[in-house]
Amino acid sequence: MDNNFSSKEAGLFTHAFNQNPYPAFHSLQQHDPLHQALMPDGHYAWIVTRYEDAVAVLKDTRFIKDFTVFLNEEERAEAQKNIFSQNMLFADPPDHKRLRGLVQQAFTPKMIEELRGRITEIANELINDMQGRSQIDIIDDFAFPLPIIVICEMLGVPSEDRDKFRTWSNTLVEASNDPGKAEKIQQHTEEFTAYLRDWIAIRREQPKDDMVSKLIQAEEAGDRLSEQELYGVVSLLIIAGHETTVNLVANGLFALMTHPEQMRKLQQQPELIRPAIEEMLRFEGPVEFSTDRWAAETLELQGKTINKGDHVLVALDAANRDPEAFEDPDVFDITRGQSKHLAFGKGIHFCLGAPLARVEAEVAVNTLLERFPGLQLDTASTDLEWRPGILMRGLTELPVRLT
Ligand code: HEM
Repeated sequence: MDNNFSSKEAGLFTHAFNQNPYPAFHSLQQHDPLHQALMPDGHYAWIVTRYEDAVAVLKDTRFIKDFTVFLNEEERAEAQKNIFSQNMLFADPPDHKRLRGLVQQAFTPKMIEELRGRITEIANELINDMQGRSQIDIIDDFAFPLPIIVICEMLGVPSEDRDKFRTWSNTLVEASNDPGKAEKIQQHTEEFTAYLRDWIAIRREQPKDDMVSKLIQAEEAGDRLSEQELYGVVSLLIIAGHETTVNLVANGLFALMTHPEQMRKLQQQPELIRPAIEEMLRFEGPVEFSTDRWAAETLELQGKTINKGDHVLVALDAANRDPEAFEDPDVFDITRGQSKHLAFGKGIHFCLGAPLARVEAEVAVNTLLERFPGLQLDTASTDLEWRPGILMRGLTELPVRLT
């Protein structure tokens, strides 16, 4: 193993990496599985690429989420002004359990199964809108609106405003590690916050049977949820609710169209839809890197010393292609069956929305393929661009021909 293996040698964070990160991930797995990388914003982070290490880090409570513990009081107060950090994903126990507990019930597999009918209706409506067109963009016309309409309906926020949410959350998600976007992030954060503030004020006056109204009740009841945390959880659900599933549906359909034998297999055996979705999650997972973790104490991992306060990122899409954990990891095979992939993370932050994302993806892929069995890419796969930023892995557009 070569300890001086550089990020440049690994080919991290270049345009080529953005287009296809797997050669770099494999190279790191081989030469430096716990790699201290120079990030695009100029700071260093440990990058974990092997499956076993990924599981160990995600389950290890010495890697914490709330970096404000390393700040002084003044800095902490400043950092906590950002409403998007006041949520379960950036919290550690015991706050984490309290915040997750407030919304967990709405996301159980049983509750989500009850939404299947409505999700199918939305998918069919979106497909009806495609009537008379021979070409569409899977992302704009289908994969984006479907999950955002669903999460807006669950929360009780107007789905007509979905394009605004898209602009705001795209900026926030793509911005991670891009120092050049500070002004835009600031502006979009302020707009998003102002929107939520207005909407929450409306729901305070006129409560309904939706999640925002229930969260307002919890906030008003006393010490279970602060006002900042209320904004935090609603914005997290809006962002997580659509930034991810859009990419699962689009990456998954892209994988099927570029592996026609797998597409045919699924069409001949529709009962393969569940393992097919799991394979899509493993093969091209929508969340490329986990969110930030910080070492709460100095510790040893893979023979290296990680110092207290060091930044650690788990490359989930690398772990899901680790040859030590998956046979022929670069082969897309919808018949793999039971999958131990890490696309939804692991440990206490395991994705709350996993049952919802799975049902949405099953419905989306099935419904589209039933209506357009001859679905085909309308451009060379090499001409497609993958979105910048390291958190999400998704295409900027996916033009297809409807047949
Ligand atoms: C295919 C779609 C999705 C993928 C791949 C995905 C992936 C993930 C991953 C990897 C994490 C953990 C991040 C970490 O530990 O650093 C996470 C957490 C989370 N996800 Fe998802 N997600 C998806 C869809 C959704 C949806 C639809 C929702 C909600 C509507 C959602 C809500 C959340 C929440 C609230 C957390 C934080 C959980 C916690 O901190 O306890 N996700 N997701």
